[in-house]
Amino acid sequence: MSEKGEKKIYEKPMILPQKIGMVNKYQTEMGRSTTEIDGVAVTTLLAEYGSPLFVFSERAIRSQVSRFKKIFRAFYPNTQFAWSYKTNYLDAICALMHHEGSIAEVVSYFEYEKARRLGVPGSKIIFNGPHKPPEALERAVREEALINVDNFDEIFALEELAAKYNRPVRIGMRLNLDAGIYPQWSRFGFNLESGQALSAARRIHQGGKLELVGLHCHIGTFILDPNAYARQLNKMVDFGDALEDDYGRPMEYYNIGGGLPSRSQLKGIYLAPDHAIPPIDDYARAIGEAMLARCKPDHSPKLYLESGRALIDEAGYLLTSVVGSKRLQDGKKTYIIDAGVNLLYTSHWYNIGVKPGSAIDGPAEDSILYGPLCMNIDVVRDSIHLPPLPVGSPLVLHPVGAYNVTQWMQFIEYRPAIVLVSEDGTVELIRRREALEDVTSCESLPERLRVSADLFANL
Ligand SMILES: Cc1ncc(COP(=O)(O)O)c(C=O)c1O
Repeated sequence: MSEKGEKKIYEKPMILPQKIGMVNKYQTEMGRSTTEIDGVAVTTLLAEYGSPLFVFSERAIRSQVSRFKKIFRAFYPNTQFAWSYKTNYLDAICALMHHEGSIAEVVSYFEYEKARRLGVPGSKIIFNGPHKPPEALERAVREEALINVDNFDEIFALEELAAKYNRPVRIGMRLNLDAGIYPQWSRFGFNLESGQALSAARRIHQGGKLELVGLHCHIGTFILDPNAYARQLNKMVDFGDALEDDYGRPMEYYNIGGGLPSRSQLKGIYLAPDHAIPPIDDYARAIGEAMLARCKPDHSPKLYLESGRALIDEAGYLLTSVVGSKRLQDGKKTYIIDAGVNLLYTSHWYNIGVKPGSAIDGPAEDSILYGPLCMNIDVVRDSIHLPPLPVGSPLVLHPVGAYNVTQWMQFIEYRPAIVLVSEDGTVELIRRREALEDVTSCESLPERLRVSADLFANL
């Protein structure tokens, strides 16, 4: 009790764990807002298309793809990019990638059908993935897609198709190998070091129905060591050369998959992306030099790159709005926003950047950003400095262009609209907001389970 008889509240001193938002040495997220995207005001976009809203910048996509093409071709001219559909298979995004000179890379029949529907010829589709259903494989053979085989059963199925169509089928083989990136992606394709890949190549040759013309390998995603690609390529070319010695056919292509990092802030990495992520030139040099060093004077095989996240992540924004705020028992400021992990699958691995979408004054405070889901795991950022944000405040989440609009889930909320800001600042709707019928149109209710008001009369 104090002298005046008031009850004194004793607060136990506590040491809070250091979190990125509290440390924030690089000041990367403080004091700035993102009020427009390519000249279009965030508030205008939200007023017109509702909140939340995904926004893609055509300028960012085109400039990133042409920059990558230029850099990689400067080191190895025979380089071809293949757009990794799984990273973002919105029609408009895939079409932009194709307009910028990429072929398609798909990993399922759904993606294959999507690419064909968009107008990509079968022969310009690389077909990867561990599940290629019989009808998919047959169509891909008929349409002369670049199929990379994943396992022995696929080899047998392709041999049957070659017999059915009475012609050899040209294929690539997917490898997995140790390029110094751990955990190693070992479940796709044939293992190199154990000799499994060699057995598969022998089986393909002995079968006499398939022609092995290329090698594929994807060592993982968000690869931070450019030299890993050189190690990968050296192993692939060694194997290709050995096959040429044995069977007399040089490899027509080496496909090194994707994995180049975007400028996201990977959780657990203390440094800001500008410090932690090597420049793209380092990757292009490591890859191009490894290829050139191994080329024979009369033969420079095609190099395929299936880069996904590095080409699209920074071009994508998610606009969201504050719908409420509260203080937790420990005093921590929290905000609830209308977009959560349902739309931001990548927030499990990355600290997605968050900026106010309008100029807001006031002292920044370490805060938690919760999504709208009635689920404890729906945390978009667990520690971030934000100024005081009244209900309705717009926030801009960035970068979010890779994987989110493919891995999103329709869980208790509708998926939002998506717009493309074109290079001249025109805004085009490329996916409308979902409505109830989009969810229910796939369902059917047995007549005997029909629900009417009578059911509830005595409840
Ligand atoms: C076979 C293959 N190619 C390309 C990619 C694209 O990878 P990233 O987005 O890391 O460039 C992936 C992604 O997992 C993949 O599995």
